[in-house]
Amino acid sequence: MKAFSLHLLLLTLVLLSSSDYRVEAKCNFPAIFNFGDSNSDTGGFWAAFPAQHGPFGMTYFGHPSGRASDGRLVVDFLTQALGLPFLSPYLQSIGPDFRHGANFATLASTVLLPQTSLFVTGISPFSLGIQLNQIKELKAKSLSLNQSGLPLPSTDVFARALYTIDIGQNDFTSNLKSIGVAGVKQYLPSVVNQISWTIKELYDLGGRNFVIFNLAPIGCYPAFIRQLPHNARDMDQYGCMVSYNKAVMHYNRLLLQSLNNTRGIVPGANVVYFDKHAVLLELFRNPKASGFYYSTKACCGYGGGAQNYDPAVYCGNSKVINGQNVTATACGDPQNYVSWDGIHATEAANRVIATVLLNGSRSNPAFAFSKFCDLNPIG
Ligand SMILES: *[C@@H]1O[C@H](CO)[C@@H](O)[C@H](O)[C@H]1NC(C)=O
Ligand SMILES: *[C@@H]1O[C@H](CO)[C@@H](O)[C@H](O)[C@H]1NC(C)=O
Ligand SMILES: *[C@@H]1O[C@H](CO)[C@@H](O)[C@H](O)[C@H]1NC(C)=O
Ligand SMILES: *[C@@H]1O[C@H](CO)[C@@H](O)[C@H](O)[C@H]1NC(C)=O
Repeated sequence: MKAFSLHLLLLTLVLLSSSDYRVEAKCNFPAIFNFGDSNSDTGGFWAAFPAQHGPFGMTYFGHPSGRASDGRLVVDFLTQALGLPFLSPYLQSIGPDFRHGANFATLASTVLLPQTSLFVTGISPFSLGIQLNQIKELKAKSLSLNQSGLPLPSTDVFARALYTIDIGQNDFTSNLKSIGVAGVKQYLPSVVNQISWTIKELYDLGGRNFVIFNLAPIGCYPAFIRQLPHNARDMDQYGCMVSYNKAVMHYNRLLLQSLNNTRGIVPGANVVYFDKHAVLLELFRNPKASGFYYSTKACCGYGGGAQNYDPAVYCGNSKVINGQNVTATACGDPQNYVSWDGIHATEAANRVIATVLLNGSRSNPAFAFSKFCDLNPIG
């Protein structure tokens, strides 16, 4: 009898620690609506254009989950901490559940309307303006189909949800090779203006709580170090390209200013600028302080060397080079890497970013979820 109840107790503990995060949280946000690119795409792109294969998803999901990482993204940690289920991509046609939000992000999305095609340059057709139209459609459907029993957000959710926006990296990087930093800087004001305009549109839909992510220090990303023109003098002591990182900081200042102005046109709303850049820069510069070993070297790649990145053979792909069939495989210890595939963060790095997002120490204004939400611990 004793042995039996001990067994039961253990079983209960195991169930409590591994089961549904929804059970315990008591936060105010009933849903998250996310807009973005691969940094927050939980399966939208691969729902529209199925093809993703391993080793993506190897750490957490155990199979490709449509995310550009070995495991969870920042938005996944955020949903778990808030006691919500993972967000269904809006484009998911098989069994989506939008009652607790939706994810409009797709890999390779831009803020500005693309001037090119997916099949030419790999840029997603689902730019921010399209993502905005999608949430308008979702809201309209959730009103008109309100009695249908479909897994749609209830009508009050749009006003109470958290709106997260993590986009702009592809606007910034996709033309760097052809027109350089000076060329890209010309249109960065349009990028931040479009983000501000989108916030106003979401506000008109009822949105009152917004978190906007700034851009990462892409000058430290293995893929860009290998692909963007620079000379040895441009490299800093951390192995990052100074000129591109400076340009990112220029963009981030524009975004900060633009959000500051946006607050004036969305009275009563919280518009929070989240400095993801600072968190990642610290990881790239001082990986060991956060328990990492490699920063500017990709876990999943081909070629070895300082970056382990070869633009010809992206993570998980195979190619015949000099008569040899080579494959870009994953390292066995992604928890020691900041960079997963040269362009995207590992789950381990995403966990650090999410921790800082939740404690508010890099948010402007300082907005600590941990203060007013009953957060689940990040697993
Ligand atoms: C449906 O709409 C009615 C009237 O607006 C509202 O009272 C009710 O809560 C809605 N139901 C859901 C499931 O959103
Ligand atoms: C933000 O706006 C306030 C007034 O609206 C202004 O005083 C402040 O300087 C602005 N800050 C930035 C970074 O633009
Ligand atoms: C190269 O190797 C990969 C992985 O082993 C395999 O899937 C692929 O079919 C091979 N390609 C060729 C051209 O042999
Ligand atoms: C927030 O989290 C980071 C990373 O764990 C930590 O370094 C920082 O001290 C925390 N700040 C606060 C205010 O808790």
